[in-house]
Amino acid sequence: MLRRSLLALLPIIGSVFAQSSSSYTDPGNGFVFQGITDPVHSVTYGLVFPPLATSGSNPNEFIGEIVAPNDAKWVGLSLGGAMLQNILLVAWPNAGNIVFSSRYTSTYDLPKQYVGPTITTLQSSYVNGTGWKWVFRCQNCTSWAGGGSIPVSSQGVLAWAYSNVAVDNPSDPQSTFNEHTDFGFFGMDFSSAHTNLYQNYLGGNAGTPTSQPTSPTSGTPTSAPTGPTVSATPYDYIVVGAGPGGIIAADRLSEAGKKVLLIERGGPSTGETGGTYTAPWAAGTNLTKFDIPGLFESMFADSNPWYWCKDITVFAGCLLGGGTSINGALYWYPAQSDFSTSAGFPQSWTNHQPFTDKLKARLPSTDHPSMDGQRYLEQSAVIASQLLSQQGYSQITINDNPNWKDHAMGYSAFDFVDGKRGGPVASYLRTAKVRKNFAYMDYTLVSNVVRNGSQITGVQTNNTAIGGNGIIPLNPGGRVILSAGSFGSPRILFQSGIGPSDMIQVVQSNADAAKRLPPKEQFINLPVGMQVSDNPSVNLVFTHPSIDAYENWANVWSSPRPADAARYLKNQTGVFAGASPKLNFWRAYSSPDGRVRWAQGTVRPGAASINTTLPYNASSTGITSRGRIGIDAALRAQPIVQPWLQDPVDKTILLQALNDVISNINSVPGLTMITPDSQMTIQQYVDEYDLAGMNSNHWVGSNKIGSNSSVAVVDENAKVFGTNNLFIVDASIIPSLPVGNPHGMLMSAAEQAVSRILALSGGP
Ligand SMILES: Cc1cc2nc3c(=O)[nH]c(=O)nc-3n(C[C@H](O)[C@H](O)[C@H](O)COP(=O)(O)OP(=O)(O)OC[C@H]3O[C@@H](n4cnc5c(N)ncnc54)[C@H](O)[C@@H]3O)c2cc1C
Ligand SMILES: *[C@@H]1O[C@H](CO)[C@@H](O)[C@H](O)[C@H]1NC(C)=O
Ligand SMILES: *[C@@H]1O[C@H](CO)[C@@H](O)[C@H](O)[C@H]1NC(C)=O
Ligand SMILES: *[C@@H]1O[C@H](CO)[C@@H](O)[C@H](O)[C@H]1NC(C)=O
Ligand SMILES: *[C@@H]1O[C@H](CO)[C@@H](O)[C@H](O)[C@H]1NC(C)=O
Ligand SMILES: *[C@@H]1O[C@H](CO)[C@@H](O)[C@H](O)[C@H]1NC(C)=O
Ligand SMILES: *[C@@H]1O[C@H](CO)[C@@H](O)[C@H](O)[C@H]1NC(C)=O
Ligand SMILES: *[C@@H]1O[C@H](CO)[C@@H](O)[C@H](O)[C@H]1NC(C)=O
Ligand SMILES: *[C@@H]1O[C@H](CO)[C@@H](O)[C@H](O)[C@H]1NC(C)=O
Ligand SMILES: *[C@@H]1O[C@H](CO)[C@@H](O)[C@H](O)[C@H]1NC(C)=O
Repeated sequence: MLRRSLLALLPIIGSVFAQSSSSYTDPGNGFVFQGITDPVHSVTYGLVFPPLATSGSNPNEFIGEIVAPNDAKWVGLSLGGAMLQNILLVAWPNAGNIVFSSRYTSTYDLPKQYVGPTITTLQSSYVNGTGWKWVFRCQNCTSWAGGGSIPVSSQGVLAWAYSNVAVDNPSDPQSTFNEHTDFGFFGMDFSSAHTNLYQNYLGGNAGTPTSQPTSPTSGTPTSAPTGPTVSATPYDYIVVGAGPGGIIAADRLSEAGKKVLLIERGGPSTGETGGTYTAPWAAGTNLTKFDIPGLFESMFADSNPWYWCKDITVFAGCLLGGGTSINGALYWYPAQSDFSTSAGFPQSWTNHQPFTDKLKARLPSTDHPSMDGQRYLEQSAVIASQLLSQQGYSQITINDNPNWKDHAMGYSAFDFVDGKRGGPVASYLRTAKVRKNFAYMDYTLVSNVVRNGSQITGVQTNNTAIGGNGIIPLNPGGRVILSAGSFGSPRILFQSGIGPSDMIQVVQSNADAAKRLPPKEQFINLPVGMQVSDNPSVNLVFTHPSIDAYENWANVWSSPRPADAARYLKNQTGVFAGASPKLNFWRAYSSPDGRVRWAQGTVRPGAASINTTLPYNASSTGITSRGRIGIDAALRAQPIVQPWLQDPVDKTILLQALNDVISNINSVPGLTMITPDSQMTIQQYVDEYDLAGMNSNHWVGSNKIGSNSSVAVVDENAKVFGTNNLFIVDASIIPSLPVGNPHGMLMSAAEQAVSRILALSGGP
């Protein structure tokens, strides 16, 4: 039984779905569901969930419906999108009622009863001469045995099964039946399947809420647009994405008098921008999670991390400031080599200094972020510098010597400002937002640019209140700048019919997105998503008796050391005025392939889950390994070819660098390496390292700059090849990884790109 499923159900991820969900209102009960109607059998499948929790875990239930014609003798729904190891719901009509059961199987055989879910049929269900409708509440239904769960805040896949042959014993919910006569999958946007009318729906009432939902105490954004109301008035420049690239572009364009709209899909971050989400100990202040440097490590340990992009499979910030609102804020002025032709930049870009100077003037770095100028929790820096000085390293102020990246070490530098997270939000955005010719719109998602061949005429947003169709137009001569990040900008290009044909085909197969594609003859074939790189990084863990590991940062959110919390709130001094990194170091390596590679080390006290004192991660740049970024059928952006250590020379150099760091470990009394431990060599450790665990979140190159459209996506003016007026200013245009963590170098590149765009003739 059900054998046909074997082949068909396995390759779900990465396959192309015929359909993806959209929002619809059931005319019978008035409930707004997210779902599909299968066009062959005319069966409708819909789900709607309670609102997401503002803290703690999400509700584990939903209301579902199956609406079927009489030909449907039984219908099934897999909550995990495949037959095996998922909750399977089956239902059929019998004697005027719906008979149903929850089932489960680990083999391709008849699914058996599954105990766990509580399923209640709701009153708008019926069986009549036309067909049948099962509307039901499914409690304890969002996760199940085997580890599966519904991704209630993002996208996923559901599967349906259909049969025109009745079950063996229709009155018995556990009846046996034959294999389904048909089945299919659809992409499901769970993030759009929530209603605050849920309680009303349970009572059979689709109307307005009887009681207002209580206001969130944590201040998590409730997704009500808070930006100024912007009608479909045209702009000179529309900048998509308020990360570092977009903020700098929007500030410089508005400074030049252009009428600028900056669009961001997320909401506020720091207190200054209206954000209120913070640790209990900072409640009632303007010091949010995104302001307090010492809460950096808590980004990865939050029970409701709403700030990550849910439709990107690696870490990316979806809030004002983008990555710079959630990152470690390690901030390096670029080295000359970062902008060299051997790094892939056009010759015309190599004099970066004027642009780096502009950046430094707006956003200086600090290696002592506490407001009293003191350094805190620095024991790990002391021990590491003892180790490294014996290897010939010099202790320098790193940002005073940006080109000195060999045998160089120094205190970690940040773009914190006034003891708080600073970055582009506390600098460039401040000047932009007071200008009358600058507008900012948040909680607004851009899916694609609207174009007529090579001419971009506007952007498509998800807010149909704008101009009735969500399209924001350009002024004559106007331009669009994509700054949605290394994953976000490629996805917008794919949905605009720009990119490799396999990715555009994925969009064509997505019923919703396909409608917005331009005609085929206008597709532009460019290597979007190709040639990405990210630093491969490996953690080594040490102990040393002198080091305060700060409880591995585990308590900073809910039970911080009281004196540290109090003094930070009082005057932004102490441990919380800094993030976990304390010391950085670099060493250059040449190799037979003629390239120079740099190993970077980041030393921090404390590491998640083990009691340690001094972990650091070493990563390498100058690498040649490249991967690829793409989208799947639910349009989730992700690495589809992993970039780490593709080139064996990259691995050789990484191993050499790791071995060099520990070469004289015995010369520092009390210093012991515990990961890898004495049972394992560095070589074994790296061989067994999970490649995806090498992710440094430093993605560059997916829309890289270059001389022609076979090797690059944008030209030396950051203009997308084959278009008249579409530009990209974000990490995706950087052709290869800079020597240090990237956002400092990226911001200099953004200064340079926007100055070229302003200088380029034909603009508004
Ligand atoms: C966990 C983590 C730690 C990091 N640590 C460091 C570090 O210590 N030092 C360092 O230099 N770098 C670090 N980085 C990398 C750095 O943050 C990024 O390189 C940088 O933020 C990239 O900037 P960007 O402008 O290209 O894009 P992003 O910062 O990703 O900004 C893109 C913005 O566009 C918005 N957006 C995306 N799609 C759309 C859309 N369709 N419509 C509207 N808006 C959209 C997003 O919400 C986001 O605000 C870290 C990154 C991460 C994820
Ligand atoms: C929820 O379902 C699981 C099986 O998926 C079951 O083990 C658990 O007991 C159920 N919980 C409740 C409260 O019914
Ligand atoms: C069955 O119910 C549906 C929904 O109320 C209705 O549209 C349809 O006309 C009914 N069919 C019959 C035969 O009553
Ligand atoms: C928080 O900031 C707002 C706006 O900047 C200001 O009006 C308010 O007084 C501040 N609150 C506190 C507690 O500092
Ligand atoms: C900040 O507050 C702490 C704790 O009260 C105090 O010790 C320190 O001197 C203050 N520093 C400054 C610069 O005000
Ligand atoms: C598209 O551009 C062409 C010229 O390039 C023009 O003739 C045509 O009218 C435009 N179409 C629309 C719908 O604006
Ligand atoms: C548009 O998308 C954003 C980001 O996902 C979301 O917060 C917002 O509510 C959406 N707006 C509409 C009108 O659906
Ligand atoms: C780690 O350290 C904390 C506090 O210092 C202690 O409570 C905990 O028991 C330790 N855990 C282990 C595994 O040693
Ligand atoms: C290495 O540490 C730095 C600073 O904490 C961080 O930005 C980077 O992402 C880390 N890489 C890994 C793989 O942990
Ligand atoms: C495109 O640029 C690459 C790299 O500079 C070069 O090798 C290639 O010949 C160029 N192709 C064309 C068609 O100009």
